[in-house]
Amino acid sequence: MKLDRIYRRLWDCLIAATCEDQRTFKAMQAATIGLDGAPNVRMVELRRVSEPENLIMFHTDVRSPKVAELRRELKITLVGVETDRNRQIRVFGKSRILHDGAARLDAWESSSDRTLILYRTLLAPGTPICQPRDAFGEDCGAQPSDEGLAHFCVVEVSPFRIDWLDLSAVDGPERVLFIRNGTIWEPSWIAP
Ligand SMILES: Cc1cc2nc3c(=O)[nH]c(=O)nc-3n(C[C@H](O)[C@H](O)[C@H](O)COP(=O)(O)O)c2cc1C
Repeated sequence: MKLDRIYRRLWDCLIAATCEDQRTFKAMQAATIGLDGAPNVRMVELRRVSEPENLIMFHTDVRSPKVAELRRELKITLVGVETDRNRQIRVFGKSRILHDGAARLDAWESSSDRTLILYRTLLAPGTPICQPRDAFGEDCGAQPSDEGLAHFCVVEVSPFRIDWLDLSAVDGPERVLFIRNGTIWEPSWIAP
């Protein structure tokens, strides 16, 4: 496949991942450098992707370790897989934590109460508890409200390198490295 078609396909995959009923690439693994210097990784769900703005966004709790890690080292790597087609997308980017502003408020208002309940707990993510229900107070989540907004943030990732691997391409495995140079993406084939 031609490089420009692969470029289009990879962004189409990322954009499609933000659709409600989509599973592929929806949850990607996000790697950071832990505060102890060791690699750290966890799943995040892609919420908004814009190729013209060169942005990939996910939501998280501002009290979570990943935010502390990104505040110290803003580089982040996301990796996702399409298991039935053996395709992998790996995105190297710089992060920005949005803890105020209109984009974050829009993200909050367009999220379901089912997901926002996580931000309404008084306990920071990772706080030890005796049993799962201890994380939520008696009335927590019963009434939709802006309670919890203070804990909610959007992480914007601006990719500067993208590695595409397609192990089931018709003519054999294909791997492409896209490097961002200013506002231009420069693709090159690399050995799989
Ligand atoms: C399918 C799936 C999607 C997830 N999406 C998110 C997400 O978008 N944001 C988030 O903060 N945590 C998400 N999580 C939970 C994280 O993977 C992780 O357990 C939690 O955020 C703790 O991360 P930290 O201690 O590294 O900060 C998701 C977990 C799963 C299984």
